[in-house]
Amino acid sequence: MSKFVALVPAAGSGSRMGGSLPKQYLPLLERPLIDHTLRALASHPRIAQVYVVLSPDDASWDELGIQLEKLTVLRCGGAARAQSVTNGLKAIAAEVAADDWVLVHDAARPCLRAEHLDRMLDELAGDGVGGILAVPVADTLKRSGPEQRIAETVPREGLWQAQTPQMFRHGMLLKALEAAGSAVTDEASAIERMGLQPKLVEGDARNLKVTYPRDLELAALILGGEQEQ
Ligand code: C5P
Repeated sequence: MSKFVALVPAAGSGSRMGGSLPKQYLPLLERPLIDHTLRALASHPRIAQVYVVLSPDDASWDELGIQLEKLTVLRCGGAARAQSVTNGLKAIAAEVAADDWVLVHDAARPCLRAEHLDRMLDELAGDGVGGILAVPVADTLKRSGPEQRIAETVPREGLWQAQTPQMFRHGMLLKALEAAGSAVTDEASAIERMGLQPKLVEGDARNLKVTYPRDLELAALILGGEQEQ
């Protein structure tokens, strides 16, 4: 049986957050943001191993003292996200079979829930391609023109927002990313370039990506609410 492992690219500098500490290390409910992300993956019984990809010159990780069963640290991050994922996949090639599933998950998505993972694994474990967690677009979409004025309304029918995890077999994903180069911003795009059609698994807005400082407040509300339940 193919196993499931998680690969968390965490080599970004988070420039849209301002400040010098990479966003994945900012405090969130008294723990580093990335600690929540890694725990969400490592605590799931069906995830065999969690690999985190850091920048080779990361100066912050060791001070955080994050230690989790199932967690392996790889210091092979690259200049772009796709490069970090490619390097990580190569680094784990001896431990993971070509047919094993890799769930690539952003370090900056700390509110991933066990129910999201359950749904993905149930829907995709028997799939020939793999897929991603995503949310159907609910708002009316506008394309902007000059002076930040509306140029047109874009039909939202059939549009989804891509999230992570993005789940593909190790061998197929490495081949797709090596062919695509660093231009792609997610794993699914690389698979699509091979003419394949990843499945959309419906998630929800709680699995937000922390990009701007105010997103941290939202993430704290989501996680805080969970703790009170
Ligand atoms: O910047 P953005 O939010 O798109 O980054 C998504 C994820 O990719 C983050 O977890 C970030 O740390 C990671 N990343 C990376 N290597 C890079 C750039 C981003 O691992 N060179």
